Amino acid sequence: MANDLLKGKVGIITGALDENSIAWKTALKAHEQGARFVLTNAPLAMRMGAIKELAEQTNSIVIPADATSLEDIEKLYTEAKEHLGGNFDFILHSIGMSTNIRKGKSYGDLNHEWALKSYDVSGLSFHKMMQVAEKMDVMNEWGSILALSYIAAQRVFPFYTDMAEAKALLENIARGYGYRFGKLKKVRVNTISQSPTRTTAGSGIDGFNEFFDIADLMSPLGNASAEACAEYIVMMFSDYTRMVTMQNLFHDGGYSFTGVSEELMEMVRKSG
Ligand SMILES: NC(=O)c1ccc[n+]([C@@H]2O[C@H](COP(=O)([O-])OP(=O)(O)OC[C@H]3O[C@@H](n4cnc5c(N)ncnc54)[C@H](O)[C@@H]3O)[C@@H](O)[C@H]2O)c1
Repeated sequence: MANDLLKGKVGIITGALDENSIAWKTALKAHEQGARFVLTNAPLAMRMGAIKELAEQTNSIVIPADATSLEDIEKLYTEAKEHLGGNFDFILHSIGMSTNIRKGKSYGDLNHEWALKSYDVSGLSFHKMMQVAEKMDVMNEWGSILALSYIAAQRVFPFYTDMAEAKALLENIARGYGYRFGKLKKVRVNTISQSPTRTTAGSGIDGFNEFFDIADLMSPLGNASAEACAEYIVMMFSDYTRMVTMQNLFHDGGYSFTGVSEELMEMVRKSG
């Protein structure tokens, strides 16, 4: 359904690794709604990824950048500005990585060097992207900056280990920079807290399949898909959400405010 919600808007979309990625679906939806953008991902991911295919489909280009490197971000913005012909209306941070999770480390056995890397890649990189955007003055007034989070920032999910702290950091950066960018340029900054989603990052988590099903049973609307998340992101980039800032927005089918569902109780009753 194309109704030009993002007509005339330009921006940056990080994190499209493959067709399951939330960023990949977002690129397709944003293109459908009239946006022009540059795609970016870590140079390593690009060597394995199919991102060029997405660029062709969405009439965009790909500029590699490691989101933890200030130099890479500067180069990304410089080249993107040149390609898009001006400043940006939106930036999507859709980046997450934990070596501790990938290597199956439990919360009581974290490798702290890797934990610092998780915080840098998954949390601090959001600050870096905004700090460079501020210094280079690349955001248009009333622009929108978003990152993707998970409810483990507020509640304990044992298998999410160091990513829980990374998401807490990410959400706090959205508040801190949301205040600053609001004052500076009327730019809004938010995080979307998404349901468990079958992507490379999601499926790498221990017990993901069981947890996906439990969350689905808990949520009155069921788990939110990556595609539905992409639609929400498009709305957050559109002019219809100009006064929403410094928020963590749950996009989870009602999971976050459900104590227990009848379906889960029924499962326990049957198993007992
Ligand atoms: N999948 C889920 O269950 C779920 C739920 C809530 C939130 N999220 C969040 O959504 C976001 C997108 O993840 P996804 O589920 O689409 O998975 P994904 O694996 O498709 O995307 C993660 C992306 O991060 C990129 N990345 C990693 N290190 C990077 C770096 N140094 N510089 C630049 N990019 C880097 C990867 O290349 C990849 O494209 C992440 O922040 C993730 O934590 C995912």
